[in-house]
Amino acid sequence: MKPIEADSLAQLRKRKSAKWRAFPADVLPLPVAEMDFPISDSIKKVLHDLVDRSDLGYLASVPELPEAFAAFAKRRWNWILEPEHVHLGTDVGVVIVEILRLLGKPGDRVVITTPVYPAFAYWIKEVHMEVDERPLIEENGSWRLDFSAIEKAFSSGAKFFLMSSPHNPLGLIYEKEDLSKLAELAKAHDVIIISDEIHAPLTFTTGKFVPFLTVSDTAREVGITVTSASKSWNLAGLKCGFFYTQSQKLRESLAPLAMGIHHRASITGAFGMVAAFNDSDEWLDSVIARLELNKKLIDELVSGTPLKVSNPHNSYLSWIDFRATKLGEDPAAVILERAKIAVNSGLAFGEPGKGFVRLNFGTSPEILQSAFSGIKSLL
Ligand SMILES: Cc1ncc(COP(=O)(O)O)c(C=O)c1O
Repeated sequence: MKPIEADSLAQLRKRKSAKWRAFPADVLPLPVAEMDFPISDSIKKVLHDLVDRSDLGYLASVPELPEAFAAFAKRRWNWILEPEHVHLGTDVGVVIVEILRLLGKPGDRVVITTPVYPAFAYWIKEVHMEVDERPLIEENGSWRLDFSAIEKAFSSGAKFFLMSSPHNPLGLIYEKEDLSKLAELAKAHDVIIISDEIHAPLTFTTGKFVPFLTVSDTAREVGITVTSASKSWNLAGLKCGFFYTQSQKLRESLAPLAMGIHHRASITGAFGMVAAFNDSDEWLDSVIARLELNKKLIDELVSGTPLKVSNPHNSYLSWIDFRATKLGEDPAAVILERAKIAVNSGLAFGEPGKGFVRLNFGTSPEILQSAFSGIKSLL
């Protein structure tokens, strides 16, 4: 598969999205989770058609999207799901916030496994719930769930487990056994598992993504999957996501949300995502091929330095350990100030993020080389 080429820096600087607007023009931005590749032609065509017809009204029922997702899930992960129970919403963030609001109450505890996508904590606080951090265990650069800490959280009354699977920022893919164990613990303590699987389509050829709801009957009883094509096909601005559960009880509890939130997604998002799941496999594979090469390049670029990088099997995020350098607890601040390169501060990802940064490698090898040469000049 031919790896996709990123847009040129001059073209990227014309983009109006957050990644390219958040910093002054002399800063090279590698934080916000957007990719620097052109979007797939089939998605472009759908969007052009909508605009050409002035077809930008409200979103009616779009059975095409659940069907397209179900076909994709079957093709890529052998997951057979019932499209009639997939419900659309504004985006993954809004859907998760509204699920928490509907199924829980202020003060409920939500377990997250840090370091993790910072918005998880914001969403939990938005609904006046409490963040219960149960950090992953790190051993020789690899990370895993701390089941004993999770069990303590569950047995002491936590109500939800919010999981990033595959994991942002580590690109970690959970094994079936771990997911099954998590499901059993959740059932034993009446905890609902919300599995955010937004990064899943970007799984590398070195990994095998396991959808949470495929692991066991227990997982299907306690789990809700929330996802979107926004991350993998670079469509975050289109605003559309969806959720799915196989539990009859959860379906009944979520019915009011399913009715209300559909109309808060966009027509461009829904139909753009139909094209993503139906007609963009080749584009997706070319992105994965580029990301695999970029991951290797990063390994080469840090070799011989005190930096340690994560070993992602998914997506475009590198979690970089600066603890053996002199850049302190917040290397991102020093890198921005002295090298004019923007990366995410590890501090935003929870307690274990001290001394780490997250770098987005969904870009060109040239941009990565230039970023690492700036970073290495500080070591
Ligand atoms: C794990 C995870 N969930 C959700 C989101 C945001 O998704 P959305 O834009 O659909 O709210 C991101 C964005 O980076 C993410 O990494």
